[in-house]
Amino acid sequence: MQRFNNFIDGEWIPGKGEYENRSPSDVSDLIGIYHTGNASDVDAAVAAAASAQQGWAATSPEERSDILNRTGNILLSQKNELGKLLAREEGKTLAEATGEVERAGRVFQFFAGEALRIFSEYGDSIRSGVDVRISREPLGVIGLITPWNFPIAIPAWKAAPALAFGNSVVMKPAGLTPASAWRMTAALSEAGLPNGVFNLVMGSGRDVGEALLSHPDIAAITFTGSAQVGRRVAIRCAETHKKVQLEMGGKNPMIVLDDADLDKAVRVCINGAFAATGQRCTASSRLIVTRGAHDEFVERLVSAMQNEKVGHALAPDTTIGPAASEEQLSSNLKYVDMAREEGAEVIGGERLERDTEGFFQAPALFLNARNDFRTSQEEIFGPCASVLKVDNFDEAVDLANATTFGLSSGICTTNLAYASAFQRRSEAGMVMVNLPTAGVDYNVPFGGRKGSSYGPREQGGYAKEFYTSVKTSYVQA
Ligand code: UN1
Repeated sequence: MQRFNNFIDGEWIPGKGEYENRSPSDVSDLIGIYHTGNASDVDAAVAAAASAQQGWAATSPEERSDILNRTGNILLSQKNELGKLLAREEGKTLAEATGEVERAGRVFQFFAGEALRIFSEYGDSIRSGVDVRISREPLGVIGLITPWNFPIAIPAWKAAPALAFGNSVVMKPAGLTPASAWRMTAALSEAGLPNGVFNLVMGSGRDVGEALLSHPDIAAITFTGSAQVGRRVAIRCAETHKKVQLEMGGKNPMIVLDDADLDKAVRVCINGAFAATGQRCTASSRLIVTRGAHDEFVERLVSAMQNEKVGHALAPDTTIGPAASEEQLSSNLKYVDMAREEGAEVIGGERLERDTEGFFQAPALFLNARNDFRTSQEEIFGPCASVLKVDNFDEAVDLANATTFGLSSGICTTNLAYASAFQRRSEAGMVMVNLPTAGVDYNVPFGGRKGSSYGPREQGGYAKEFYTSVKTSYVQA
């Protein structure tokens, strides 16, 4: 069985420990043995990144652009193989996983362009004879802490802008999904990235994550993960004076109004709630339906759920893969029990047996839910959605906003007035009309409000707000 090392200063270095990466679709499927690092590996990686960073920042934008472009092309050319690997290690379906690899490749290509689009602004000072220039510079070494639910797309949309603007990187991928991160690292290396500019240290949050958070030579941390861990990351970054960007959870509402095209609404909700096994911070987990459409909508939604096929991520007819881990599945099942205890009528949600030993679960709806149920307020991160019945549009908007999160929100309606009113009144960073709350574009900003996000937006042109620092220069001739 192949052993996969950490990548430090351009070399593949064995870590201090190792562990098995197994498929959540079939625990007998051993994907590889992955090395784990500790604080001394982080020290070595940060030292390499720090000494490579200025040289990297001094390369021409075109050189950085070419390397990012090549990385994107490599990922796209390996799309099918990497998609299969990702589906095996994370459990999303082959189609979803291949799509994710494609997205990662395109993210690199997009930021290859962004590397060429850093422009300064010039202005007149308030004093005569003085010119002012506002320019952007890299931050230095950036620590990336990435989650298991998008094992290649999120590493890509953090690494690509970091590198595009001249930073160097130390990345800690999620313990559950090291293979995709490892392959992205290999692609960067193959694309000709100079030694030390990108470093991969696999391992636990306790060892590797903490070492990144406390390291004095790391200028900034970008994190995607749970709200609970995110809070700790922010506190540690404040203590060590690091710039920080957090993308955390969601409890995203999808409103379905009486006037909605119900077939479309059902497709939107099935995708938003259950695609990627509900393991997206953008998943639609609260379906808020007005009284006139409620019964008909629920009937059609329940019947559409019966067509979903839960199974092995690689089976061609699977539409919902397993939970990514035993721990995630048991947490999902606890929430299903809780929904029942709280008084919801639960449809589905039971653990399923398949030919292979994996973490399969039927998609679940919690009907007649109230918004103050814990199952309507806490992020479950599984194929579970609450259905809340409301009297009218205003009540729907109030409930949509009645959450500690504010990542994404949606509305299904054929009425332009409601669509635009919702767009204005929604307290979320992203608003969707007749589209699922999840599944976003990489060329526009991504991020939320309230407990969902902290710090500047990711992706699109806005990514430079986090990955660069602004310098204001005054010149008198
Ligand atoms: C998407 O919905 O396309 O971790 C992306 C997450 C988000 C990414 C969602 N940061 O689920």
